Amino acid sequence: MNKSGLVYQNGAFISPQEAKVSIFDRGFLYGDSIYEVTLTYKGKPFLVEEHLDRLWHSADGIGLSIQMKREELTRIIHEGARKLGLERQYIRIIITRGIGDLGLDPALGEEQTTLILFKELPALDTALYEKGVTLFTSEVLRNPKKSMDPSVKSGNYLNNVLAIKQAREAGAYDAVMLNAKGYVTESTSANIWMVLGESIITPPLEAGLLGGITRQKVMELGKAQGFDIKEQNFTVDTLKSANEVFITSSTREVLPVTQVDNQVIGLGVPGPKTKELHKHYKTFILNLN
Ligand SMILES: Cc1ncc(COP(=O)(O)O)c(C=O)c1O
Repeated sequence: MNKSGLVYQNGAFISPQEAKVSIFDRGFLYGDSIYEVTLTYKGKPFLVEEHLDRLWHSADGIGLSIQMKREELTRIIHEGARKLGLERQYIRIIITRGIGDLGLDPALGEEQTTLILFKELPALDTALYEKGVTLFTSEVLRNPKKSMDPSVKSGNYLNNVLAIKQAREAGAYDAVMLNAKGYVTESTSANIWMVLGESIITPPLEAGLLGGITRQKVMELGKAQGFDIKEQNFTVDTLKSANEVFITSSTREVLPVTQVDNQVIGLGVPGPKTKELHKHYKTFILNLN
């Protein structure tokens, strides 16, 4: 077996090189698809129930009724991770509205395409956690909720692709994406947080963002530790005035941010509350395994 990766497609486990999608697949043609990303710790898929809850939420958001039974999907996720057999794996579940004649009408989609990609996930880059990363405020806005709702993890990530392109061209690690009202939503693939005085603040779901599974866990763990955690709208100017900034995502856990645009955050090094929250998150992971 190819140790670098494995794909589940149409009832079989095959190599990533063998996995193919038709040019008539609506996922390819229109981004008419949804997806999820999780990872494994010690070879075990992480927070599968939470990720499948969000997958079903995303399906509802695009009016897709997932053909595969949830129990079957769960079984395949665990089986694939076992088969690949690596401690640290990236797992991407993709469901498209399937192959159909050209045309936007979703009724044209026939049988859904279900793909699960398992591949090796490199260890966290410790240098990033020691130094912190930089963010750049992109001109590309996050969609309003009444457009393609950002709480849906869909195959429509072109705004985010353009935003990270701008950020990378500006030499930054990731972008801050604002909404039409000028409030911070999230980064292109992670949720944004700031420490302001004693409070730890992240934008509310209503700002138009993906309800991160890590965001939710960090919120629960932080509150249980007695941190004052709030969901509040804020502007990028407020973000720049914060004592600490960090981003959260499944594959990056709790990653410190030490610069936003040209503004150094706090003392320019990862802050104490960020580190403490990351420590609690790591303990939570350890206790699950
Ligand atoms: C736009 C966006 N925001 C936030 C996140 C973080 O979500 P999670 O913590 O569930 O990985 C992701 C995940 O990739 C994302 O794509």
